[in-house]
Amino acid sequence: MITLSTLKKYKKEGRKFSCLTCYDALFAKMMQNAQIDTILIGDSLGMVVQGHDSTLPVSVDDIAYHTANVARSNQHALILADLPFMSYVTLEDAVINTRKVMQAGAHVIKLEGGAELADMVATLTAAGAPICVHLGLTPQSVNVFGGYKVQGKSEDSAAKLLADVQAVVAAGAAILLLECVPAALATQISQTVDVPVIGIGAGPDTDGQVLVMHDMLGVTHGRTARFVHDFLTDERNQTGAYTGSVEGAFALFHQSVIEGSYPRPEHQFL
Ligand code: KIV
Repeated sequence: MITLSTLKKYKKEGRKFSCLTCYDALFAKMMQNAQIDTILIGDSLGMVVQGHDSTLPVSVDDIAYHTANVARSNQHALILADLPFMSYVTLEDAVINTRKVMQAGAHVIKLEGGAELADMVATLTAAGAPICVHLGLTPQSVNVFGGYKVQGKSEDSAAKLLADVQAVVAAGAAILLLECVPAALATQISQTVDVPVIGIGAGPDTDGQVLVMHDMLGVTHGRTARFVHDFLTDERNQTGAYTGSVEGAFALFHQSVIEGSYPRPEHQFL
């Protein structure tokens, strides 16, 4: 069973860890068989499960439902779950909704934002809920950003991101997740903080790597992001024990993260 202590130990040892989004029991079981270290019940379920065009319509009950389905069948991974859009604007809402999602089976709660979350992170952590702070491209703020854009490219936005990181780590954040930030900035952050850092579109040097499950199985329609790799049709998944299976794709992702062969230079932003 992977815990926060395991991830901290991995960070000290330089052992990378894998993370995939998951929303249901059978995929969660396959991820367990493939030794995936951490699972995220992400509000990306709004797009890949519910068919919306953003994460905004997802409710706390949706997240709790999918978290319970995953938690029932995976006894190996550390389970992270999102609090969705507008469900943690006030501390009172954050406490009520964190309780609901943790009682459904999450071990860690993920919130999107920066320094403005510091008091919330401190309160929830003191009450027994470890918090992962998602920084960089935070999809719940897509309408503020005016689209899904790489963050931290200018000097000012990089400085703001670094200040946000310091503030939430000082407040007690247990994990950071960096989405779509230049690889060099993600390297700097990962080397500066002593909490595990998960990356998606953040280059090869974060402590862990996450992908949306559907993306890494090639189950997409239309354009995929630069950092996505299809592990299902990858030729390394066509031989050996798994021979082209979904479970093989999960195992190949895990192995590729650990050995450092994913992400490759073409997957990163500069
Ligand atoms: O909701 C989600 O799936 C996420 C990942 C993109 C990191 O937050």
